[in-house]
Amino acid sequence: MSTFDPDPPAPAVGGNPADQLITIKRFLADRQPAGATGNLTGLLYDIALAGKLISSKTRRAGLTDMLGRSGVTNVQGEEQKSLDVYADQVIAGLLGKSGKVCALVSEEQPEVTVFEDGGPYVVTCDPLDGSSNIDANVSIGTIFGVFRRHDPDNGPTTEDWLRPGSDLVAAGYLLYSTSTMLVYSAGDGVHAFTLDPEAGEFLLTWSDLEFPEDPSYYSFNLAASAHWERGVERFVDWANRDDTPTMSQRYIGSAVSDFHRNLLHGGIFAYPGTDEEPAGKLRLLYEGAPLAYLAEQAGGRGSDSRESLLDLVPTDIHQRTPVFVGARGLVERLEAFVAGPDGD
Ligand code: AHG
Ligand code: MN
Ligand code: MN
Repeated sequence: MSTFDPDPPAPAVGGNPADQLITIKRFLADRQPAGATGNLTGLLYDIALAGKLISSKTRRAGLTDMLGRSGVTNVQGEEQKSLDVYADQVIAGLLGKSGKVCALVSEEQPEVTVFEDGGPYVVTCDPLDGSSNIDANVSIGTIFGVFRRHDPDNGPTTEDWLRPGSDLVAAGYLLYSTSTMLVYSAGDGVHAFTLDPEAGEFLLTWSDLEFPEDPSYYSFNLAASAHWERGVERFVDWANRDDTPTMSQRYIGSAVSDFHRNLLHGGIFAYPGTDEEPAGKLRLLYEGAPLAYLAEQAGGRGSDSRESLLDLVPTDIHQRTPVFVGARGLVERLEAFVAGPDGD
């Protein structure tokens, strides 16, 4: 199968193009473990459908009133954009009717949404990540995580969502950019699909993605550096040194887009805590943990600077955490700098 190649060969000419195409439906069916009920496969397909609808609205955002503010402030104290609201409604609507999901944790909802007679899965999601970039036409995304409910016959209860990322059975994101991509893992590698808008299908682009060994980028908002703990600053000083691997600093401000670029080209994305906000800005259940799960599946790591993001157990659905996620060597080096002055 095809892994990411930054310098791909010219496509072969001739033959039947359909022979090369693997739809997400076929890929999910092929990868479904023997004896599985198909619920997770169906759930991922529903998320792909939500992605198509959000993508379509995103494409038309400049032509409709979708760019603007909704006038509503969410539980994080951030004003929701119209696209935030739309994405949240689409995801809740589709998953609520799917029969596969019993509870949904969304950035845009103060409480967990429980679906009566729902299925075996709990979904966490950031319906629209990077929404401050919408009006500037910069890439945005959707992030999701999937847990299996503890007791299939009872509940769901708070233990079904206040749990560590190590319990995730799947996670992924949609990226609305030059093209629309769905990237997911269900525990057997990270796979990426591109939406063919004319065919209306997500087609396999790369399977079994891994962070490349030589990193290209570090993605930190340097404007906040005066407020970081000293170890984070020391990491950036190290990254800027002449005798370290040559990395450029790139920061989009949409976590999902920064993560995606760094997954393909090698690198680390960070949203550190500050002296005023020690837990930073990003949320564990629907930003930090799903990205950390994907990173681990691609040979990388996610950390709060001290321990794996996958080991943190939230006490609140909207709990924030510092996030350092990307190539394993870089995240471990960051942790070493934070642990002590001799990190290098
Ligand atoms: P959201 O749009 O879901 O609230 O998330 C925005 C987040 C994240 O995507 C990004 O990395 C970060 O905000 C950027 O924040 P700063 O502008 O403070 O760097
Ligand atoms: Mn976000
Ligand atoms: Mn969001």
